[in-house]
Amino acid sequence: MIYLDHNATTCSDERVVEAMLPYLQGMYGNPSSLYKLGRIARSAIDTAREQISALIDAPAAGIVFTSGGTEANAQAVANARGVGLAISTIEHPSIFENAEYHQQCFRQLQTLSVDVTGSVPLASLHRANWHAGDLASVMLANNETGVIQDVAVIAERLAEQGVNLHTDAVQALGKIPFSFRKLGVKLMSLSSHKIYGPKGCGALVVAEDFVLKPWLRGGDQEHGSRAGTENVAAIVGFGKAAELVMTEMGLREQRMLALRTRLERALRTIPGLVIFAEHAKRLPNTVQFGINGINGEMLLMQLDQRNIAVSSGSACSASSGEISPVLTAMGVEASLARSAIRVSLGKDNNETEVDQFVDILKASIAN
Ligand SMILES: Cc1ncc(COP(=O)(O)O)c(C=O)c1O
Repeated sequence: MIYLDHNATTCSDERVVEAMLPYLQGMYGNPSSLYKLGRIARSAIDTAREQISALIDAPAAGIVFTSGGTEANAQAVANARGVGLAISTIEHPSIFENAEYHQQCFRQLQTLSVDVTGSVPLASLHRANWHAGDLASVMLANNETGVIQDVAVIAERLAEQGVNLHTDAVQALGKIPFSFRKLGVKLMSLSSHKIYGPKGCGALVVAEDFVLKPWLRGGDQEHGSRAGTENVAAIVGFGKAAELVMTEMGLREQRMLALRTRLERALRTIPGLVIFAEHAKRLPNTVQFGINGINGEMLLMQLDQRNIAVSSGSACSASSGEISPVLTAMGVEASLARSAIRVSLGKDNNETEVDQFVDILKASIAN
């Protein structure tokens, strides 16, 4: 199989699995237990906290482990209870569905539109109806188009108006370097399975000067911010995956960008093909395109029959034929948005796979 859907998930790195295994068997202690077995597990979690904080330049004490990016986003949104919340129109469903569900709990719920390049215009950030302590959520990189927002500048502009910023960095992690401190955000969501770590594990990163409202209650875990016995093996795996990114990111980024350039050069020769947000700053591994007159869902299934795993980019359109809200927000015409295919490359893809994908894509379109 040619796997080109790394923004959906990645295969756990064997070095990650190796690091995790002891914590499923011999070192199975509960990190809250005071005896040695418990202390070993506690120390493994602390090591993972250090590994992740080193990768993103964040305070280790500010890393709150969660069950993944979805939970981290939900917790961030829940923190806006009692204040105003503003979210961009291209956020992941775990932001916008939680925001809609909890709408009554916010002083106000606003949206931040994006322009045709998929970016939040800086001019739209100056609003008379902000109140000090409000929260905004703007993702660092989009899961469909790969568009990267200028989060540092957005955070700065919002801070001038007393507004705190949360950023969903789930897709940016491991693909581009960034510093939590330099971005100036108060909250950040991360997920392990997008960086060759295990599924069901992530983190909400909290700035030193931000008071996080408790989330799950019923225990003191994660400094009281998120109750529940920690998934020690998964956390260890997340930490190991982050450590590997530290040493391999430069090479991975370079390789993926070279492959994407090769892929895009070939895609541009296909009549009627449009690369979304082509000229915007994007993740090095992501390209989403549409082809006039083609049904994206049918094309996806044809590619699957030929052992190629790609996605439309949007969970909605994958299952129900609906149009991607991200592409809609960017003003992409409905018929073109319906033909969307997202290719997201990974660290182990190679030139042959990219060339084979293009050949099979061309043959499928011709059918
Ligand atoms: C941008 C973004 N945020 C959040 C999530 C959710 O992360 P998880 O799968 O860890 O719950 C995803 C997953 O696809 C994502 O792409």
